[in-house]
Amino acid sequence: MMVEMKKSVFAKYFTICIAFILVSITFLGAMLMLFASQYFKDEKYRTLLDGAQKAASVTYSEYEAGEGTVSLTTLRPFYQLLAAASDSQYFLTDNTGKTLFCSEGSSCDHTTHTVPGKILDIAAQGSYREIGTLDGITQHRNFTVAVPLINDNNLVVGFVFGTTDSNELTRFLMELLKMFLLSSAGVLLLTFVVLYFVTLKLVNPLRDMAAAAKQYGRGDFSRRLNVETFDEVGQLAEELNNMAQSLSGVESARRSFVANVSHELKTPMTSIGGFIDGILDGTIPKSEERKYLQIVSDEVKRLSRLVRSMLELSKIETGEAKVNTKQFNIVELVCQTVFSFEQPINNKHLDIRGLDHDRVVVEADEDLIHQVIYNLTDNAVKFVNDGGYIEFSYTSDSNYTYVTVRNSGQGLSKEEISKVFDRFYKTDRSRGLDKNGVGLGLYIVRTIVNLHGGDIVVRSAEGEYCEFTFSLPHPKQNKFGLSSKKVNTKNE
Ligand SMILES: Nc1ncnc2c1ncn2[C@@H]1O[C@H](COP(=O)(O)OP(=O)(O)OP(=O)(O)O)[C@@H](O)[C@H]1O
Ligand SMILES: [Mg+2]
Repeated sequence: MMVEMKKSVFAKYFTICIAFILVSITFLGAMLMLFASQYFKDEKYRTLLDGAQKAASVTYSEYEAGEGTVSLTTLRPFYQLLAAASDSQYFLTDNTGKTLFCSEGSSCDHTTHTVPGKILDIAAQGSYREIGTLDGITQHRNFTVAVPLINDNNLVVGFVFGTTDSNELTRFLMELLKMFLLSSAGVLLLTFVVLYFVTLKLVNPLRDMAAAAKQYGRGDFSRRLNVETFDEVGQLAEELNNMAQSLSGVESARRSFVANVSHELKTPMTSIGGFIDGILDGTIPKSEERKYLQIVSDEVKRLSRLVRSMLELSKIETGEAKVNTKQFNIVELVCQTVFSFEQPINNKHLDIRGLDHDRVVVEADEDLIHQVIYNLTDNAVKFVNDGGYIEFSYTSDSNYTYVTVRNSGQGLSKEEISKVFDRFYKTDRSRGLDKNGVGLGLYIVRTIVNLHGGDIVVRSAEGEYCEFTFSLPHPKQNKFGLSSKKVNTKNE
């Protein structure tokens, strides 16, 4: 298909251009020949007529001076001079067409014949012109003009004929045609070569793009095209590059997601399988069974948590989850959520602050925001130090309501901060501290907050505290009608 494209575009473009040039050259040549031959003829007639008129006036003065007769010896040198000057012949006839003398001398065609009456009739009217043989008198075709000699009584007393070989025209035209064809061939050759390379240069990038697109189609996005020009072809190449860039991003995200998920699924499954086999084949002593069954139970819970989280995420990301916005007091939602953590809070002797805050009304999907607060509180309870505190605070500016969840404890390093929102990211410390987490909580939180048109940031001072602040736009700001509509996330 690629080769076909090259062939057709290249051949089409090339043939059209060459055909067009050939047609133009032919047309130009025809026009040139036509005008040149016309000009040549006009020029010939003009010179002949000029000469004949001069001869006629000289002859007529001789005729007048000789009172009806002319002296050929006086006239002949003049006729010969005229003939030599214009490379033609002049001859004088009486009024019956019989030649009196010719500039060529006595052995010429004209002297032995009499010009036919019908030619003389036309010649008597004024000036006569033809390309021909003077009705068969001459052997070759000639340009011929005739000028009548008219006396005082308005009677024609004779004619002066000027004549020259018409082959000259053919020779002239052939010469011209030769020159024209030669230069045309030169131009055509040059055009051919230039056009070949220009077309090739035009088609080559297209061919590269086709090859690249084919490669992309196979899922290999490594190839990038050279963008050499800023024309449409260059733009196309650049767009293809951008497309490959973003597709490769999507592709690598997908691959790492699949790899992460499989890894997260594999680890608990291996340990579950191992422990159960151990119990079944008796490698694990009866007394230890309970302990290992507990681990198996934890792992199973973790697996189902993972699957649930991923289902939720995919619902939100594909826009399947409905966002039912309504106004509610977020302080109350926080209090309810914190209650469900009563047990671990008591176990860790935590000080919970900010539960007695005034009402803060936000407009959002309550279930989704519950998930946000649940995940943030879950993290805070997991990563707070024993005897530490967890503090909820609320602020607001003209556009957003901000909710902050802060806990004392080890906090996060700069490097960790940049990664906590990534899917499946857990700090090394948390891997030891909390075996149940899969590293999806904060990713879900950010997805939900973004879905509402807000954002989330994390701040931490290592060894002191860690806090997450998310924003929700004020109701009046929320004019895009999130309520009861499927909304696609802006994430990825
Ligand atoms: N309040 C916090 N204090 C210290 N580190 C935190 C805090 N919240 C999150 N982290 C770090 O960020 C990581 C990612 O948190 P996230 O909630 O996404 O995953 P998780 O809690 O490990 O697992 P999951 O929430 O999916 O059960 C945590 O593993 C932890 O290392
Ligand atoms: Mg979490």
